[in-house]
Amino acid sequence: MTSTFDPTGGQPGQVRFFLPGPAWVRGAVRQAMAHEAIGHRGKAFADLYARIPVRLQKVFRTQGFVFTTTSAATGLWEAALLNLMPERVLAIVSGAFSERWAACARDLGIAVDVLESAWGAPVDPADARRALGKVHYEAVTVVHSETSTGTLNDLAGIARAVREASDAFVLADVVTSIAGSPVECDAWDLDFALSGSQKALALPPGLGVAFASERFRARSRERSRAHYLRLSEAEAFAEKHQTPYTPSTPHLFALDVQLDHILSETIEGRWARHDALRRRVESWAAERGHTYAPPEGARSWTVSCLTPRPGVSAEALVAKVKDRGFTIGGGYGKWKASTFRIGHMGDVDMASLEALLAALDESAEEVA
Ligand SMILES: Cc1ncc(COP(=O)(O)O)c(C=O)c1O
Repeated sequence: MTSTFDPTGGQPGQVRFFLPGPAWVRGAVRQAMAHEAIGHRGKAFADLYARIPVRLQKVFRTQGFVFTTTSAATGLWEAALLNLMPERVLAIVSGAFSERWAACARDLGIAVDVLESAWGAPVDPADARRALGKVHYEAVTVVHSETSTGTLNDLAGIARAVREASDAFVLADVVTSIAGSPVECDAWDLDFALSGSQKALALPPGLGVAFASERFRARSRERSRAHYLRLSEAEAFAEKHQTPYTPSTPHLFALDVQLDHILSETIEGRWARHDALRRRVESWAAERGHTYAPPEGARSWTVSCLTPRPGVSAEALVAKVKDRGFTIGGGYGKWKASTFRIGHMGDVDMASLEALLAALDESAEEVA
């Protein structure tokens, strides 16, 4: 890749923070959050919020309705379900976050069947098609990039399988894929797609971003049981360039600045950079004998989940590289002790990743 774009905005080679979220945040974005207070029912806010959806649509690749919430991404899991109130859901589970979304549905009193694939293994769309042929589901939940295992599911294929086999709504968690690898809300015919600010958008945590299809919005007008995150309220206030409740205005100032940054790189350019970072970790891992959890072709572009080579403890490696000033993620859930995760998402540049890989090599020597 020969792009001259500096994703760090003036700090090339200096990123030291590689968690799989929250991601490293550029100085200009942090400064934007320090904007003085404005009222959320005044003109300054309306001017700000009027600029957000038109650019966010480009990130979600849709002409449809996109909106923001002051919430974690988990709040949007709940919103997707509460605004639809499906009687029975097929939860596609292939790691910790998809398990948690299924648990969220159960907590809301929704009947949940689970279509499970082993941790690390991508879900086969044909399995989804078969499951949908047997029972009538009103919705399917699917996590695109499973951050716990670094697995990238074939969201386009799964959405197609759902459409072919049923009339179920496709609810997609694109938390660690949006703005880091291709997500096509319109072309893939998704009904709901949700994320949080702290991943490849590279903002501080605390803001939710989502897309809802026309079909989803029509159904939610009839069936929603949501209050705080009721979609029809978000739609009504969006007409006035406002949010229904007091928003985190600092996050919206930050998003305003960051959307310009993202679109000046171009969304395709941002995907290509993440792809290059991912491929660099792949070649490094292969040379060093660290092994990927997911198979080739099903690896997230934003988070690499690896088992260290024999003789190297994942936990010791994470601690050692921290001593060198680099933060990476440990394993998640049942893989806590056996894997480590490198988040290469957001505004990370290749020179910074190279510095991390060198520090990991030195650390691995020390702990071996
Ligand atoms: C794929 C995925 N979904 C959902 C979440 C939950 O996000 P939040 O903590 O913002 O609710 C995460 C967090 O890491 C995630 O990686």
